[in-house]
Amino acid sequence: MIYLDYNATSPLRPEARQRMLHLLEEAFGNASSLHQKGRQARAVVEEARARLLAALGDPRGQIVFTSGGTEADNLALKGVARANRQKGDHLIVSSVEHHAVLHAAQSLAEEGIRVTLLPVDHRGLVDLQFLQGAITPKTVLISVMHANNEVGAVQPIEAIGRIARERGVLFHTDGVQSFGKLPLDAREAGADLVSLSAHKIGGPKGVGALYLRQGLRIAPLIHGGPHEHSLRAGTENVAGIGGMQAALEAALDERRDGAAGRVEGLRNRLEEGLKERVPDLLVNGQGVPRLPGTLNASFRGCHGETLLMAFDLAGIAVSTGSACSSGSTEQSHVLAAMGLEASSIEGSIRFSLGWGTTGEEIGECLERIPPIVERVRRAAVSREG
Ligand SMILES: Cc1ncc(COP(=O)(O)O)c(C=O)c1O
Repeated sequence: MIYLDYNATSPLRPEARQRMLHLLEEAFGNASSLHQKGRQARAVVEEARARLLAALGDPRGQIVFTSGGTEADNLALKGVARANRQKGDHLIVSSVEHHAVLHAAQSLAEEGIRVTLLPVDHRGLVDLQFLQGAITPKTVLISVMHANNEVGAVQPIEAIGRIARERGVLFHTDGVQSFGKLPLDAREAGADLVSLSAHKIGGPKGVGALYLRQGLRIAPLIHGGPHEHSLRAGTENVAGIGGMQAALEAALDERRDGAAGRVEGLRNRLEEGLKERVPDLLVNGQGVPRLPGTLNASFRGCHGETLLMAFDLAGIAVSTGSACSSGSTEQSHVLAAMGLEASSIEGSIRFSLGWGTTGEEIGECLERIPPIVERVRRAAVSREG
């Protein structure tokens, strides 16, 4: 199986697996216990916290470990909105956010919070002028993701952070897809909150974190013991947190060694090769900075789901839209917000490459995919005829 669905989730890196197996055996203590086993588990959690903060360029910030990116996004939006009801009742979120942000905003709207959706252009970048005009004295938070999970577009977060600071509004960025893959310095970006997830970079599923600028106050979602500075009750997932750190370190080592360039090179080879071999192929989100391993393309005249199934039979795993919305027949809200026509949205496929992708796999894809597309297109035409 050629796995090209890294944006949905990535295989566990050997470094993370090894660390987790060791921690599951050795560091089984409750990080809140006072005895040796507890202190050992606490040390693992605190080391990972410090490592994440260093990677985000803010050793003095706070990290709240969560059950993943979804919880981090919910904690950011609901936590800020509920802690700031005295100050205001207005949020601005981009229209291409992950559903973890969009649906959290929707649920806040049911609590009486006003939500403005920030439009994007045809390349997937947010409209900064619209953002300037949308901020009111009652705006408490702007939430714009760093890199988009479907098309890979990297948003101008430094410019957004600057606008937020000038206007006295908090800025949250969902860094789930970019963390470990692209430089993400919370202070340079002017981000007050950043969501992270382990399983997109070769760590375990079910672990993530929310970064908070030092001193920022938010309301917790989960109540119980005083874990995570009373911002997220529940016994810490020590092995998962250690696995997240190991995956991050491996990802950062790769970046230092230029391996992010390797993944980008493979993505470009796939993109160019498909353009040469498949007529009428449209690459979505072109012409802007993109995640190195992401390629979203529309195979016009095909149903994305049909292609996905045909690729799967040929041993290639890809995605239509984001993994979280696959299984439902809903159109991709990201491609719709970018103004793509319905036929292009319908025929869109996301290829996402990562740490384990090889040149041979890309070569194989370039052999296997064009005849499949031709066959699916021919079948669609004969059905219509
Ligand atoms: C941009 C983005 N945010 C949030 C999430 C949710 O993260 P998790 O799967 O860790 O809950 C995802 C996962 O697809 C994502 O791509």
